[in-house]
Amino acid sequence: EMLILVTRIVLLGDVGAGKSSLVLRFVKGQFVEFQESTIGAAFFSQTVAVDDATVKFEIWDTAGQERYHSLAPMYYRGAAAAIIVYDITNLASFDRAKKWVKELQAQGNPNMVMALAGNKSDMLDGRTDAQTYAQENGLFFLETSAKTAINVNEAFHEIAKRLPRL
Ligand code: GTP
Ligand code: MG
Repeated sequence: EMLILVTRIVLLGDVGAGKSSLVLRFVKGQFVEFQESTIGAAFFSQTVAVDDATVKFEIWDTAGQERYHSLAPMYYRGAAAAIIVYDITNLASFDRAKKWVKELQAQGNPNMVMALAGNKSDMLDGRTDAQTYAQENGLFFLETSAKTAINVNEAFHEIAKRLPRL
C-alpha cells in the first residue's frame, strides 16, 4: 500500500528572490517575467511521487517584504519543510537567507527538512560559498532557475525523499 504524506512546506527569502516564481514553476509549469510581489502569503498545493510515498505538499509562499516578517512564524510553525530562497545575483539576499536559517534553527520545528535554493541560476555562474554554508548548517543546496525550470522539481523531490517516514 502506498504511503501518503501530507506535508506543509514554507518558502522564505528576500523580496524578489523568486519564491513565487519557483512555486509557479513547480505547481503550474509556468514562468512570468513580471511576477507581482506577494502580499501576506499565498497558498498552493502539489503532489509528487517518490519511491515509497506520495507526498502532498501544502505550500505557503510567504512575502519577502520586511513589513510581513512578523507573519512568518504562522507559516513556518508546523511546517515539516522549508525552502530558503536567495537570488544568486544579489549578495544581500544571501545574507537574508542566512538570517532565515538562523530563525528557523531557533524557532522552527527541529526536524524540519531545509533546502537552500540559489535561484536565478540562468543569470550568471558566479558562485557564493553557499554549498559550504549549507553543509555546515544541515541544509541541502541547489541552484535553481524558475525561468528555465532547472532543479525546481528536483528541489521538491529531494525534500520529499528526506521527510521522516512515520
Ligand atoms: P516577494 O513576493 O516580493 O517576496 O518576491 P518573490 O521572492 O516571490 O520573487 P518573485 O517570484 O516575485 O520574482 C521576482 C522577480 O524575479 C520576477 O520579476 C521574476 O520574473 C524574476 N525571477 C524569479 N525567478 C527567476 C529566475 O530563476 N530567473 C530569472 N532570470 N528571473 C527570475
Ligand atoms: Mg512572492
